[in-house]
Amino acid sequence: MDDPIALASAVVARALAGERPRPIVRSFFDAPTFTATYVVHDPATLRAAIIDSVLDFDAASGRTGTSAADAVLAYVASEGLVVDWLFETHVHADHLSAAPYLQQRLGGKLAIGSAIVEVQTIFGTLFNAGTEFERDGSQFDLLLKDGDTLAIGQLEVTMLHVPGHTPADMAFVVGDAVFCGDTLFMPDYGTARADFPGGDARSLYRSIRRLLLLPAQARLFLCHDYKAPGRDTFVWETTIGDENSANVHVHQGVSEEDFVTMRIARDATLSMPRLILPAVQVNMRAGHLPPAENNGVHYLKIPLNTL
Ligand SMILES: [Fe+2]
Repeated sequence: MDDPIALASAVVARALAGERPRPIVRSFFDAPTFTATYVVHDPATLRAAIIDSVLDFDAASGRTGTSAADAVLAYVASEGLVVDWLFETHVHADHLSAAPYLQQRLGGKLAIGSAIVEVQTIFGTLFNAGTEFERDGSQFDLLLKDGDTLAIGQLEVTMLHVPGHTPADMAFVVGDAVFCGDTLFMPDYGTARADFPGGDARSLYRSIRRLLLLPAQARLFLCHDYKAPGRDTFVWETTIGDENSANVHVHQGVSEEDFVTMRIARDATLSMPRLILPAVQVNMRAGHLPPAENNGVHYLKIPLNTL
């Protein structure tokens, strides 16, 4: 097999040269969780993919909601899109996925990185899930590997495995658009944390270095934005070139050792995301709630003194 980065770079180059369509990307920013959801589609065929959808969740009341997902549904309907894929860049720790809700209404196949089995093993243990919780990724329709290719209409897609934030993180290269999940953030903010169970700063550095080999003009769509010192608006789109020259954590010239030292020190100062416990136990089940108990109510667990 060709090197996946070479494959992905060729996909970007063909889109930039006009040999293939350039995808249309619409973003939806969920301010409560700082998450960007994307709908990417082929202008010629109107075939689409939805990346990293958000289910509203109010932790105080334990109530879920669909206002964020309904905005995506309304956009898909207004543009006349046919959704072929629902992609998750990883098992998110900061929001619950709305993938099952969207899939029920739009169809499409739900896909995540094949290393999900590692994440399910780690969190299945943390939450002491019973044997009914399969740790084999079978809750998803397709498990993705580094270098896998597929199509969204006439758009070429290459999958890149970018572990570090979690073992299963994937980036999706769709024409000249790169959806990098939790790896890079905006150049002025830096990179994703690597201290969750299964995370690894050294792997994150190596994954980011691979992403930065893509063509400089590739559009880069981030998973999150948190603003940055001196910036008071949210931004979640940049380019590979800008990350290479200006990312405060990993611009060209930052060594692996320097990055790892910085990342570990910084992560030690961060508190856990507000929704990590609810989010992970839903997202490890592909966005499905844990099974209802005999009174018909779904419950979430709070493991004490474990994280
Ligand atoms: Fe994440």
